[in-house]
Amino acid sequence: MAIDYRQRIPNNVDLAGNQTLQRALEHWQPRFLDWWREMGPTDFLATEPYLRTAISVDRAGWASFDHVKMPDYRWGIFLAEQEPDRRIGFGDEFGKPVWQQVPGELRSTLRRLIVTQGDTEPASVEQQRLLGHTAPSLYDLRNLFQVNVEEGRHLWAMVYLLHAHFGRDGREEAEALLERHSGDADRPRILNTFNEPVEDWLSFFMFTYFTDRDGKFQLKSFAESGFDPLARTTRFMLTEEGYHMFVGDSGVARVIRRTLEVMKQVGEEPDKVRVAGAVDLPTLQRYLNFWFSSSLDLFGAESSSNAASYFAAGVKGRPDEANFADHLCRDGAMAIDMPDGKGGVTSEEVPLRNAMNEIVRSAYVKECASGVARWNRFIAAAGFKTELTLPSPRFRRSAGAWAGQNVDPLGAPLPGEASAARSSVWLPSAEDRAFVKSLMIRVSEPGQMAGWIAPPDRGVNELPLDYRYVRLN
Ligand SMILES: [Fe+2]
Ligand SMILES: [Fe+2]
Repeated sequence: MAIDYRQRIPNNVDLAGNQTLQRALEHWQPRFLDWWREMGPTDFLATEPYLRTAISVDRAGWASFDHVKMPDYRWGIFLAEQEPDRRIGFGDEFGKPVWQQVPGELRSTLRRLIVTQGDTEPASVEQQRLLGHTAPSLYDLRNLFQVNVEEGRHLWAMVYLLHAHFGRDGREEAEALLERHSGDADRPRILNTFNEPVEDWLSFFMFTYFTDRDGKFQLKSFAESGFDPLARTTRFMLTEEGYHMFVGDSGVARVIRRTLEVMKQVGEEPDKVRVAGAVDLPTLQRYLNFWFSSSLDLFGAESSSNAASYFAAGVKGRPDEANFADHLCRDGAMAIDMPDGKGGVTSEEVPLRNAMNEIVRSAYVKECASGVARWNRFIAAAGFKTELTLPSPRFRRSAGAWAGQNVDPLGAPLPGEASAARSSVWLPSAEDRAFVKSLMIRVSEPGQMAGWIAPPDRGVNELPLDYRYVRLN
């Protein structure tokens, strides 16, 4: 199916039938394009990557693939098909019909949640804007741009909701989404992880593995929402999100595969691995520690009255809510590890509704661990004993009960100065970052790879690996 380029904003929300909304979005569109030119991938405006574009919500053919200049990409608005007679699946409103309009009393709550989600989408494009210059292959360059344009579409998804359902406030928030910038001293992005620089491809793969996966869990929580337009738009966003996590998962795996090849030749000594031009596993572990711990903060506090009220009101549920036995969660508690105030750990019973962040975070940690186990199988199969590990969720937290607590990656409390002295063992040092950056040399011959990363198992959309995935015009 081809994209209808006559449509300025491809959509399945009958934009043509709502002139006011269409005009408002057509007014926002040039601002978005200005933002893309200024804050999106630098110097690649004439480049034509081979991109997937969402063109409908039909499972069989929801996307089309073609070479396209990124400013000409069609960022469309697509909501998953409306489920007839859908009911609220959790909380105090359980079993009542879902809302097609925003209930007045939930207006500011919903607006804040949509803005916070929306803010992460352009933020990640800003974080990744320099990476094109050091792509290890055309395949990877194409994947970077694929992720970037889809995060752009996710921004459109949230902006659509703001324009369609929140009137003037919504329009103002949509403008502000283009005015905050990742890492900006005066107007930073809302969530801290999205202000961290992503300046090398190892960070990019860790980000797409850990941080895009947080995105998946947030979207899955919203996909349960009683506000049906939010549920439908996030449900469709999830079809795109899967590829972002694949880029991260397979990216890290390819780095490890290349490292293992080098280790077979020169041994495990990190310095020797580095001299041979690969990323030593201890460095990889430190990058993993950094991005995992940062991403954990995105789930919010362990015990949260906000989370409880979102659940009670039917605004934000648990991923795959239908799989839980109890959708009300009025009784019951979850035992959560908390700092005891004396440098130790204590277990606290938190009422279930207040523990929603922790319930979702635990599911996330479990999923993160499955990838790490997969990577460890590669290492073991190559005959080495090193194991990568996820640090404790208490480690290096900036939000929640463990914020600022001095604990090691196993979660054990540390005496005052031990943390600072060992931080370069646990987190990327300036020297690690400089080394990783030194590997980042751009390769732009079709089918060729930089020396620090193994080729992928297969190409995109059943095309061969040496396909020209990006036309560098
Ligand atoms: Fe996204
Ligand atoms: Fe994503």
